[in-house]
Amino acid sequence: MEMNIRPRRLRTGAVLRKMVRETRIDKSSLIYPMFIKEGIGIEEEIPTMPGQYRYSIDRMPFALEKLWKAGVGSVMFFGIPEHKDACGSGAYAEDGIVQKAFREAKRQFPDLCCIGDVCMCEYTSHGHCGILSGGYVDNDKTLDYLARIALSQVQAGADMVAPSDMMDGRVGAIRRMLDQNGYLETPIMSYAVKYASAFYGPFRDAAGSAPAFGDRKSYQMDYHNSREALKEALLDVDEGADIIMVKPAMAYGDVIAKVKERIHLPVAAYSVSGEYALIKGAASLGYVDEAAMICEAAAGAYRAGVDLYLTYFAREIAGFIDEGRIG
Ligand code: PBG
Repeated sequence: MEMNIRPRRLRTGAVLRKMVRETRIDKSSLIYPMFIKEGIGIEEEIPTMPGQYRYSIDRMPFALEKLWKAGVGSVMFFGIPEHKDACGSGAYAEDGIVQKAFREAKRQFPDLCCIGDVCMCEYTSHGHCGILSGGYVDNDKTLDYLARIALSQVQAGADMVAPSDMMDGRVGAIRRMLDQNGYLETPIMSYAVKYASAFYGPFRDAAGSAPAFGDRKSYQMDYHNSREALKEALLDVDEGADIIMVKPAMAYGDVIAKVKERIHLPVAAYSVSGEYALIKGAASLGYVDEAAMICEAAAGAYRAGVDLYLTYFAREIAGFIDEGRIG
């Protein structure tokens, strides 16, 4: 049959397919989120995230070593404190769990890029991401706290901070605080486009950070919106963000693509706990091929436009890149 154009010509063999691939994935773009807990000798598996653990500081280096050897050079720390209170004081304590984690991680792995999630929900007794005034999260009051948290993380050795609270104006407040203290060159990766999502469920089990009442819809975004993503991202660009994040990743490819087109900063996406749990859960029942699903979901995020990918599968993806399964 006469046919000038046959798309199948470029699919005849693995080498050719790889040669004409439109999306390339590099290990240097992977960031691994980790949970660090007070105590000693702790490496406890998170029930809703099988294969993920809460580590005490003494156990953390073993996990970092494995990551580093696999070629993953960046981590994001989440702290699980011993005590919580109304103003989340554990989040900005000099000897807070995450501050101790930064000191130890940087001491043992000076070249590892250590990123701090800046938020209050793991540290507040009510589980909300800010300070309450009359049962409502008080935006402007929270900004001072967030700036203090960011500063304390950077003073402890964090290479970058990543505010995830979704208060208005927080990137600017953090930038001013860091600059006033001489940290002019510490970048901010803003969770600029963060939706109120059911996909965070397993994380809240892992970190014990579910809100004690209500939900996060008065500060996180409504998932029916995508133009609003640009509003949020542009605001954070003006406030001095260095990297813009979209979260979650899996159901938000359109948002990633839109942000990538309009924002001239590196774009990150966070493949969140629920995405991890979906793949792990279905694979454990024998319904899907775990490795194939991990690769396809990751490629989808990169194809949509991400420059950086935060994922609990970072080490696995690094391995798949080595094996030539993806990349
Ligand atoms: C803190 C924070 C959350 C996540 C990252 N930072 C939870 C939330 O907003 O409730 C979710 C990450 C995940 O689900 O993997 N605010």
